[in-house]
Amino acid sequence: MLTIEDLHVEVAGSPILKGVNLEIKEGETHVLLGPNGGGKTTLLMSIMGLPRYKVTRGKIYFKGEDITNLPPNERAKLGIGIMFQKPPSIRGVKLYQIGEVSLRGKEDGDRIKSYAELLNLINHIDRDLNYGFSGGELKRSELFQLLCQKPDLVLLDEPESGVDLDNISLIGTVINELLNKEDKVKSRKSSGIIVTHTGYILEYVNADKGHVLMDGKIICDGSPRDLFEEVKKHGYGRCTECL
Ligand SMILES: Nc1ncnc2c1ncn2[C@@H]1O[C@H](COP(=O)(O)OP(=O)(O)O)[C@@H](O)[C@H]1O
Ligand SMILES: [Mg+2]
Repeated sequence: MLTIEDLHVEVAGSPILKGVNLEIKEGETHVLLGPNGGGKTTLLMSIMGLPRYKVTRGKIYFKGEDITNLPPNERAKLGIGIMFQKPPSIRGVKLYQIGEVSLRGKEDGDRIKSYAELLNLINHIDRDLNYGFSGGELKRSELFQLLCQKPDLVLLDEPESGVDLDNISLIGTVINELLNKEDKVKSRKSSGIIVTHTGYILEYVNADKGHVLMDGKIICDGSPRDLFEEVKKHGYGRCTECL
């Protein structure tokens, strides 16, 4: 599904990613942990192809195709979708309109409504995209758009941050739907990367592999739960021993 080779990325002239290698197979969900400023968001933005994130070395392959230089809209069409950590708000674009665009011609008012209902956003679909939305509403709005888009590779940047406990299981349910978790492992088509700080989401979503990203490099791989237990006990301080 995704292969990243020796990826180096600069933001505003500063090197942020310094040689990331990562392979995600069809149907796999990976968790990305790491201290603030380690480069997790930069990695997801680079996979999505946002122009501020300049690849200076290395390659990104999606389903075997070199996408390193493709613009984000082309990557979205190929089947990559992202839930931003800090989503933009856009005046003049309604939430339902972005739903229609995300459905890409499979326009279906009923489907838009049912997704909005599932995410408790039915009263928001005529509002400007994300404008004035609370923290939890932003996260649900992002997931609404992903449900409409149904990407094959789902990039989730801190899906549970700012979400109250009542809504976190809903967030988990929708992520499981996006990642086809109800299907058997072998027939599962969608893959995902989940960035999480708190790890709460791992109580609702099963992940296959975990990685620690620190100082622009993946310095550790393991089972998501084991890595998270270690980090909870010792923080990321000990991770520097592996650097
Ligand atoms: N627009 C920008 N200009 C300058 N530095 C940036 C910009 N965006 C991100 N960075 C820097 O890149 C580093 C990695 O940030 P980020 O990828 O957001 O980390 P994480 O998501 O792991 O917390 C940080 O030091 C951050 O300040
Ligand atoms: Mg981040």
